[in-house]
Amino acid sequence: MFTLGDIKLNTPVISPPLAGISSHPFRALNRKFGCEFSFLEMINCRSLVYSSNKTGEMMRFTEEELPLGIQLLVENEGLLLKVLEKIHDLPFSIVDLNAACPQKKVTSRGEGAHLLKTPKKLERLLKLMVKNCVVPVSLKMRLGWSDDSRACDIALSGQDAGIKAIFIHGRTKAQGYSGEVCYKAIARIKKKLKVPVIASGDILSAGLAKKMFDETGCDAVTVARGALGNPWIFREIKEYLEKGKILERPCVEDIIKTMRSHLKLSCDFYGPKRGLSHFKKFFIWYTRSFKGVRLLRGEITKLNTVEGAIDMMSKFKKIGLRDQETLTASKQNLPQT
Ligand SMILES: Cc1cc2nc3c(=O)[nH]c(=O)nc-3n(C[C@H](O)[C@H](O)[C@H](O)COP(=O)(O)O)c2cc1C
Repeated sequence: MFTLGDIKLNTPVISPPLAGISSHPFRALNRKFGCEFSFLEMINCRSLVYSSNKTGEMMRFTEEELPLGIQLLVENEGLLLKVLEKIHDLPFSIVDLNAACPQKKVTSRGEGAHLLKTPKKLERLLKLMVKNCVVPVSLKMRLGWSDDSRACDIALSGQDAGIKAIFIHGRTKAQGYSGEVCYKAIARIKKKLKVPVIASGDILSAGLAKKMFDETGCDAVTVARGALGNPWIFREIKEYLEKGKILERPCVEDIIKTMRSHLKLSCDFYGPKRGLSHFKKFFIWYTRSFKGVRLLRGEITKLNTVEGAIDMMSKFKKIGLRDQETLTASKQNLPQT
């Protein structure tokens, strides 16, 4: 059991904020396959305060989805206070600050991973959050900007500021999303902290989730790219952690059935046109283990009707899965930046 504030998870596995991905359809499917706690998409505080419709849409959730966490992208204290006021009465169980996003358009504004370079500012932001939130505050960090020498100090200053958990992606900003995850650095941080450490990095299978727990001593993990087109990973990790059992990969029929549910959820949420467009990237991820998928990828990107997408799924049904291939064994076609 993993406990954090009001959150009690039987399996310590969380779906993190994923920009452009973790909206209602993705979260709803993950929940169905055993994910007990998810984050909304990261919220850019500037957009929320200046009321972009898109940000309003990102904040949409249903009661059945609770408990949920919200992550804020911000470096300005005034803006942060305004956002904390706006979300004060919403039923989020954790409010997280992003000090991990490596994108240039984010870091050039002093936000995301850039906060690792300005630890005093990071501490001020966290203190402000702790003072103004009624629920636990957490920090999402990378190991550092270009090396991990200050990782423990940053994590400790977050703890001193009053945060109740730390999410750590075991790479530096300079590594982006590739290169080795440094389990040792996460383990060092875990040893020094009293608050729970929730680790991420290359958890693409149940075995890799177990490896993260074993090598770092972390309290929970988040699964990011491993869940793209692969919501089954949540129940696979649960079975493996609790019973040491390796579940069989979903069969073709199960994959197609889940794709259809995902497409429907997407169209119900965004409307048919945007729903289809949003779903196309998932279509590619869901089908990465099918035979000859490379040849069909171009066709997927050209799809322009929901009926066309369903027809295309039938084509995949006839094609079948590649031999000895598992959805999680390969990082092929998963985002690297
Ligand atoms: C498409 C994508 C979007 C992401 N968006 C966010 C985000 O908004 N906030 C965040 O803290 N991390 C974000 N991440 C980072 C993940 O939460 C995670 O820390 C990282 O991908 C390493 O885990 P993985 O190897 O399991 O993907 C994102 C990752 C990906 C691939």
